Amino acid sequence: MSADSTGRSGVASGTKPVLSVTDLCVDYYTDAGRLRACDHVSFNLYPGQRLGLVGESGSGKSTIALALMRMIKPPGRISGGRVMVGDDDLTAMSDNEMRSARMRLIGMVPQAAMSALNPVIRIRAQIQDVLQVHEPNLTYSQVQARIIEVLEAVELRPEVASLYPHELSGGMKQRVCIAIAVALRPKVIIADEPTSALDVIVQRQVMETIGRLQREMNIAVVLIGHDMGLMAQFVDHLAVMYAGKLAEIGPTPTLFAKPNHPYTHMLISSLPTLGQKGVFRGIPGITPSLLALPTGCYFRTRCPYVMDVCSSQAPTQVAFDGGHVASCHLSAVPGGLTGRVEAERDAEATLHSASAEKGTGEAGPNKTGGFS
Ligand SMILES: Nc1ncnc2c1ncn2[C@@H]1O[C@H](COP(=O)(O)OP(=O)(O)OP(=O)(O)O)[C@@H](O)[C@H]1O
Ligand code: SF4
Ligand SMILES: [Mg+2]
Repeated sequence: MSADSTGRSGVASGTKPVLSVTDLCVDYYTDAGRLRACDHVSFNLYPGQRLGLVGESGSGKSTIALALMRMIKPPGRISGGRVMVGDDDLTAMSDNEMRSARMRLIGMVPQAAMSALNPVIRIRAQIQDVLQVHEPNLTYSQVQARIIEVLEAVELRPEVASLYPHELSGGMKQRVCIAIAVALRPKVIIADEPTSALDVIVQRQVMETIGRLQREMNIAVVLIGHDMGLMAQFVDHLAVMYAGKLAEIGPTPTLFAKPNHPYTHMLISSLPTLGQKGVFRGIPGITPSLLALPTGCYFRTRCPYVMDVCSSQAPTQVAFDGGHVASCHLSAVPGGLTGRVEAERDAEATLHSASAEKGTGEAGPNKTGGFS
């Protein structure tokens, strides 16, 4: 995917991306063989943008997050590609340079962040660590003032600094992790499933805090998650991962209105709606093992629109208007995915009306694997 063809909508021409990821590849060397968890992933993020990264478990979302932070540990390795934050090339930095860039240029709220806090160290010392490593010239009183400031930025009282993690609720711990991620006002933060362990009320409050910080500090955000409903409300751009590859990326309203990859279409169709009470539409089948990927398109074993070409040739990325890019052979077929979906809907409607006329009430099979 061309780095220039993604994530540009709504951005004044001439604006440089704050995060530019080009052909990023990450491999894990396991006893069973090498697996590629991030396969030539490219995207741009512009100042103040919010990008959602979705995909099933094991699709490589956290791998991308860790690779952006240069925190992939053996048996994993970044095997190719480039990550730029502004004019700084993170992939070309020495380990020492990267230590200084981490949290200052790019911060992260890791997956299962709450257990990332050290249980035997008070919150004050955990925030202090980050400030002192990166800003060693701060005086003691300046550090204490900054600690209070970052706690207040995430709506926590100053007294929280004196507590241990076990004395905090889940939502408070998550806020401390966010405070640490933004303490140095980085240009980009990656939040890896920041609300998955929280109840819906606290989830909403935490997302509001992330949104407010993003606006006030003009930070670009990469939000990783599974919840398409949450993504629809929070992010302006959406990237859909499948088996280590980017299946589709583009502005959120465009992807919801006119997805060009069947996987995105099925993820959106699986969202419950008020008119579908009692019906749950899932995606049939399971993600293939990254150690035994099918030939051609990795999604072909689950795709309702699979064609002959899909088993012999991997689809290449096709750019549509407005920074929308998808990897699917249907892009070359007249009518594309929309044509197929409409044809399927028409066929189902015809079947229903024929059944109604006969009085059988017989319905067609649920092509997306839903059950009622
Ligand atoms: N340390 C590791 N060693 C070997 N394989 C790994 C390692 N970490 C991740 N993987 C593999 O890389 C793939 C991508 O994993 P990753 O954690 O990035 O997925 P994910 O999309 O974040 O999933 P989830 O939604 O469950 O968090 C998976 O197949 C996983 O098994
Ligand atoms: S390339 Fe073929 S199998 Fe893959 S998503 Fe498109 S239609 Fe389906
Ligand atoms: Mg993950």
